[in-house]
Amino acid sequence: MPTITIVHMTPPLRTERLIIRDWSSTDSEEAYAVYGSPEVSRWLTPSMRTVGDAAAMRSVLEAWVEAQPNLIPPAGRWAVVRQEDDAVIGGLSLRLLPPFEEDFELNWQLRPDTWGNGYATEASKALIRWAFDQGLEEMFAVARPNNHRAIATARRLGMEWVGETDKYYDLRLQVFRCRPSDL
Ligand SMILES: CC(C)(COP(=O)(O)OP(=O)(O)OC[C@H]1O[C@@H](n2cnc3c(N)ncnc32)[C@H](O)[C@@H]1OP(=O)(O)O)[C@@H](O)C(=O)NCCC(=O)NCCS
Repeated sequence: MPTITIVHMTPPLRTERLIIRDWSSTDSEEAYAVYGSPEVSRWLTPSMRTVGDAAAMRSVLEAWVEAQPNLIPPAGRWAVVRQEDDAVIGGLSLRLLPPFEEDFELNWQLRPDTWGNGYATEASKALIRWAFDQGLEEMFAVARPNNHRAIATARRLGMEWVGETDKYYDLRLQVFRCRPSDL
């Protein structure tokens, strides 16, 4: 019996205004403008909050690039690039939520001066569609109750509020879910 290898289509994904692609360590300056900005870093997990400069960001990106091929699809971390000026304006990731690692979480970060243009919604829609095409049956987003922009983005994506929990990250979080039929 021949061995069948399933090759997963991976981003880059192209939307009307954006490209979602793998990170490169050469993105460190632009990535630091996203993850190092106080408006973004206040919502990050503690390990990411300690990224203090572009050099530290480069080390983080190197680790992400190395880890990417070993993540269980559709998990991954991607840069969001604006086509108009080829600028890296943010990042998206899909990861298994701790501690049970059963639920996939979508999360997103944009450079603050690009908020308010619908970029998180546009990029997320493409990534969600791609993830469901890989066979994923549901996807979650979690946000602290006072993270109003993140909650608004989850709702804009058509995600359904399913409750509040403290089972992930030891934080009280609002939980949103979407399934292929919600698209
Ligand atoms: C969460 C975050 C990515 C949302 O950014 P955002 O730009 O508000 O997200 P959206 O893509 O949903 O954009 C919606 C806004 O763009 C506007 N908009 C303009 N054109 C639009 C379009 N074509 N489609 C949708 N919205 C559009 C909407 O009216 C809305 O404006 P408003 O906020 O003034 O009401 C951003 O606030 C962020 O990086 N926060 C810090 C990190 C974080 O908390 N991440 C989430 C938890 S991990």
